[in-house]
Amino acid sequence: MTSPEGTLLLGQTLAFTDDPFVVPVDAAVQHARRGAVLMQAGKIAAVGEADKMRALHPKAQVVDYGDGVIMAGFVDAHAHYPQTAMIASWGKRLIDWLNTYTFPEEMRFDDPAYASEIANRYLDLTSSHGTTTVASYCTSHPQSADAFFEAAKARGQRVVAGKTCMDQNAPAALLDTAQSAYDDSKALLQKWHGKGRLGYAITPRFSPTSTPDQLAAMGALWQENPDCLMQTHLSEQTDEIEWVKALYPSARDYLDTYEMHGLLGERGLYGHAIHLTDRERARLRETGAGLVHCPTSNTFIGSGIFDMMGLVQDGQRVGLATDTGGGSSFSMLRTMAAAYELGQLRGTPLHAAQLIWLSTVGSARVLHLDNKIGNLTAGQEADVIVLDLASTPAIAQREAEAETLWEALFPTLMMGDDRAIASVWINGAQVR
Ligand code: GUN
Ligand code: ZN
Repeated sequence: MTSPEGTLLLGQTLAFTDDPFVVPVDAAVQHARRGAVLMQAGKIAAVGEADKMRALHPKAQVVDYGDGVIMAGFVDAHAHYPQTAMIASWGKRLIDWLNTYTFPEEMRFDDPAYASEIANRYLDLTSSHGTTTVASYCTSHPQSADAFFEAAKARGQRVVAGKTCMDQNAPAALLDTAQSAYDDSKALLQKWHGKGRLGYAITPRFSPTSTPDQLAAMGALWQENPDCLMQTHLSEQTDEIEWVKALYPSARDYLDTYEMHGLLGERGLYGHAIHLTDRERARLRETGAGLVHCPTSNTFIGSGIFDMMGLVQDGQRVGLATDTGGGSSFSMLRTMAAAYELGQLRGTPLHAAQLIWLSTVGSARVLHLDNKIGNLTAGQEADVIVLDLASTPAIAQREAEAETLWEALFPTLMMGDDRAIASVWINGAQVR
């Protein structure tokens, strides 16, 4: 039962006042050793010191998490919910992996009952891992998008999703056409976009599976609905890039296949973006597009090493994502660990504060939702999680040696999983 006076969560609180890639990390973070968060009517009403907040709100329902770290829920900026049941499939690289594992599984979403079962299973799994918002691809079946939006709506959960569009180079059962992709995407966005906490992303899968006509139709739909997001994949593997060159001989590069069809913009989300040319980097930066780093996917299917620090220092907007099920996890903790390891391979280790920022504010920012979610500040929607920094014996014994907040957090970022997620609140309601 939630109290009309609200719910007061007590514990360590962690919020961002600035971007830890831009200012020193300790200047970017507000941490209270004994803090409190007041949630009222699905919003964060106030954040402050525990004693003061208790005195100010004596009638609120109190939940004391002790040393638990209260922070914003994770935001996963790129995932494929239909790939839930085939995550961790062995031994293939991108194109073979799509043909061998992914497309056959996606064909099952022809059945609305199966789509609904997997949508709910996926949202159960992700919320138990502390993820409160995702941007997901659906399959090419419109009913797969309906199933996902219906499941999210029933949970009061903020999600972004779209029907995946493909009119070539995929099994016939998954193909739409330029016209049907336009018509079906339009009907879906009219039905779901901006309804409650739901947002629509126009979703051409990637240039190899769309004809120029389909990309142009998606570009036209985006121009007609500029407040929608647009999500796609960009420059993930080198043989994919060669294929795109062969399919689009007049394009200057991979990004240009999107740009020439009206699919480059500030509200565009470009998953992977690993093997970029200088021109692509410049155009992505100029347009303020969102790049989405998917580190467990990049290692799992052998794609390459994203240039996180270089791109961020260039002024690019970057979010973080699992890319389930090319990614090998539902957990943004595992994702942060992989991002850290890839940073190490480039000689640019990310700070714990930068990792947490990427998986909350950074991802919310590429989704243009940072005014609503991603931070533990008054006025934000009440999507809140609590981390247990001693969730396993291995993590606990390391955390016991820590002298600073960052040292205490880092073992959980590197070694934690759903056991580290002590509690999850979505829209002010407890789901874990
Ligand atoms: N490129 C096109 N489709 C996909 C997909 O489903 N997963 C990944 N990782 N890359 C893609
Ligand atoms: Zn993907």
